[in-house]
Amino acid sequence: MADLSTSIAGVALPNLFFNASGVWCQHESELKELLDSESGSLITKSATFEHREGNPSPRYVPLPTGSINSMGLPNEGFEYYLNYAKNYDYTNKKPLFVSLSGLSLQDNVKMVEQFAAADLPCVLEINFSCPNVPGKPQLGYDMEAMENALKVLAPIVKKPFGIKLPPYFDIAHFDAVAAIVNKIDNLAFVTCVNSVGNGLAIDFETETAVIKPKDGFGGLGGAMILNTALANVNAFHRRLTGGKQVIGVGGVTSGKEAFLHVLAGASAVQIGTQLKEEGPSFFARVKKELEEIMQAKGYKSLDDFRGKVKTL
Ligand code: SIN
Repeated sequence: MADLSTSIAGVALPNLFFNASGVWCQHESELKELLDSESGSLITKSATFEHREGNPSPRYVPLPTGSINSMGLPNEGFEYYLNYAKNYDYTNKKPLFVSLSGLSLQDNVKMVEQFAAADLPCVLEINFSCPNVPGKPQLGYDMEAMENALKVLAPIVKKPFGIKLPPYFDIAHFDAVAAIVNKIDNLAFVTCVNSVGNGLAIDFETETAVIKPKDGFGGLGGAMILNTALANVNAFHRRLTGGKQVIGVGGVTSGKEAFLHVLAGASAVQIGTQLKEEGPSFFARVKKELEEIMQAKGYKSLDDFRGKVKTL
């Protein structure tokens, strides 16, 4: 039998799969469906300090090779997810991750302070990479601001936590971001990658952008971003020190891409577009497919092949 168990930030997951923040996780009813699924964990929708309606619709559209979205952080406001985390049954085998995406450092400080005060066993993933809030550039592309934010937030979080990063496309940027991450002791993982920001999908017949916000500009996800995601996972796996981990996201539509993420160095794998399209039953399929691949290749655990991609 192939063993899909893993651990992130010192917390055990029965298997490596969970949702990418933003998909199937805004409301308790969706989180309940994730709990009832074969996912190994679950993460809540990125919370802002106040409730947000998000951007006007249409704001998510599937494409032949993935998806485009400009959701604009619709969420119930941070207290909703704090209460969810307070009431969560931590005897459940699935650990809980909570995503925070303050619109300012001050908002992130206020939210993190309240989580620290509640002293819950959930794990925080702070989102530095939403490309869809008009007028708010992605923090992950401003190295100085990101380092400053981490230096302020990490001592407040105290416990191991993670950040969600945008995709990077230059070796100098992998080096620079990894150097920042390596300076922060309790920054235990990076989640790579958020959507590839500000793509544009146009309908050939109507000659019109397919989503409404931001003149049609939105984050790309799904199969078309697999290779960018694998490169980011591997780049950070190679550079991070002190046991820091990488969670892979991007382009997983079957067990095969999940296998590639682990081979690139992922310790867990989140699912975005495919979960949105197929629903939580996807977790049973992707688990089975990965188990079959591991059996066929003679791997018993994820450690047997994690990060072991060969180069020519
Ligand atoms: C969104 O709500 O716009 C997506 C969240 C994200 O990409 O971080």
